[in-house]
Amino acid sequence: MSEKKRFYITTPIYYVNDAPHIGHAYTSLACDVLARFKRLNGYDVKFLTGTDEHGQKVEKSARAEGTAPTAFTDRVSQNFRDLALFMNFSNDDFIRTTEDRHAEACRSLWKSLFEKDQIYLSNYSGWYAIRDEAFYDEGELNDGPDGLKLAPTGAPVEWVEEPSYFFRLSAWQDKLLQFYDNNSDFIQPVSRRNEVLNFVSGGLQDLSVSRTTFNWGISVPGDNNHVIYVWLDALINYITAVGYPKIGEGTDYSRYWPANVHMVGKDILRFHAVYWPAFLMAAGLEPPHSIFAHGWWTNEGQKISKSLKNIIDPVNLVETYGLDQVRYFLLREVPFGRDGDFSHSSMVSRLNGDLANDYGNLVQRVLTLVFKNCNEQVPLPQKFLNEDSLLLKAANDAVKEAKKSLEKFAFHESLEEIWRVIRLANGYIDRQAPWKLSKEDPERMETVLYVLMETLRYIAILTQPFMPHSSNQILDQLSVAQEKRTYNHLNEAHSLAPGRRITEPFGVFPRYQDNKK
Ligand code: ME8
Ligand code: MG
Repeated sequence: MSEKKRFYITTPIYYVNDAPHIGHAYTSLACDVLARFKRLNGYDVKFLTGTDEHGQKVEKSARAEGTAPTAFTDRVSQNFRDLALFMNFSNDDFIRTTEDRHAEACRSLWKSLFEKDQIYLSNYSGWYAIRDEAFYDEGELNDGPDGLKLAPTGAPVEWVEEPSYFFRLSAWQDKLLQFYDNNSDFIQPVSRRNEVLNFVSGGLQDLSVSRTTFNWGISVPGDNNHVIYVWLDALINYITAVGYPKIGEGTDYSRYWPANVHMVGKDILRFHAVYWPAFLMAAGLEPPHSIFAHGWWTNEGQKISKSLKNIIDPVNLVETYGLDQVRYFLLREVPFGRDGDFSHSSMVSRLNGDLANDYGNLVQRVLTLVFKNCNEQVPLPQKFLNEDSLLLKAANDAVKEAKKSLEKFAFHESLEEIWRVIRLANGYIDRQAPWKLSKEDPERMETVLYVLMETLRYIAILTQPFMPHSSNQILDQLSVAQEKRTYNHLNEAHSLAPGRRITEPFGVFPRYQDNKK
């Protein structure tokens, strides 16, 4: 038996300072679609998500609420777990940095870095932004209101002076540049890659990797006065989840590491593309294959933030528009990697245009005709005419294209490829007018409806990663067997069997009406 191809994909682990919002759902959704896509292509997939629970930011939120950090993180972490279930995410694991497996991994990695002389004790004095959990140089800061200093991200900074362990990041500048050079796909998209190259070329300073002024974190091995810097702690989650420090043959680590892709927002690219590979190389471990930094969602043109009270709650969205509708919209509306704006009107126009009219109606028309005019069973085709073959060929060609686009994280392109076939099928049904053929030429009608059903089989298999629930409903209605819904079944050898019973069709993508409330 040949070994399965592997695919390990991760979301950021989200801070539990706040309720999950559309931004978190977006990153995880992108990972979910890729994980499902790879599984349908026969890969052994590990899809990881979870929560980042240590550090000053979380401690502060717990305190503001008058709750102990452990109780606070238990509660908020559960909200992220619930969201994953609610959004139909297919993650194989959910990691919390407060778990024992993670403390063990963190301490092991720390010891390994320390033994390799990559970490030394000194003193930190400088600026720190709790909101970003990040250190900043004086030169990076801007002046805010009331003499306040602000990080480039807009986060307020405070002056910190304390004993601290440092990681010898400065020693890794050349090796990082070499690494980026040898691995041109490591940072995606390309525009982000250049950003990181510029930053690293500009010179790196040693990085403070422990704190002493609070204790909500994992203590430094051998020095209980320090807790491990929350970003070092957090990044390690990606190897904790594959069983680090157990890394020998036959372990999950050897099975899945290095990860294929860490999916992140552009806000946290530097941590993933600079610090993380440096930590790993310094410990003698392999860096991940790639980091993809996607863009930022705004709400009706405004930055999404708690203070603006314009946070988009994914649960609300789904209750308003439907789950698969939201999943579709988020990945179709904005080219992945770019910033995007959420608006009610663009959501409704995708929902009614692409889903209800183009896709849903087509399915409904075809299946209703088959149900009524073909004795409730898959019709029996005669010889295909040129236009029949052309449509089937377009469906077949879309497989390769839709796949290629997903391989390069171009979700919107992949969907465009699929919708090109949907539009061709709509043109075909209008020209062939099978409803007229039922009297004039019933045999030809059966052929036309068969071609349409077969085209829909391709389309619904291809839309599965994006809209698993609706696609499966369509495949059920087409009478495609459960075990025949993978990419391996996208060929003639697995075409629909004439004579197979179909059940009474029902609509899958209802129209959205603004006044329905
Ligand atoms: O940074 N648009 O956690 P976090 C798009 N714990 N994506 C958004 C978004 C928006 N408006 N808002 C948030 C952390 N995101 C660390 C990560 S990983 C080892 C540690 C998404 O809760 C996006 O993926 O602040 C962003 O990078 C992430 O949420 C930040 O989540
Ligand atoms: Mg954040």
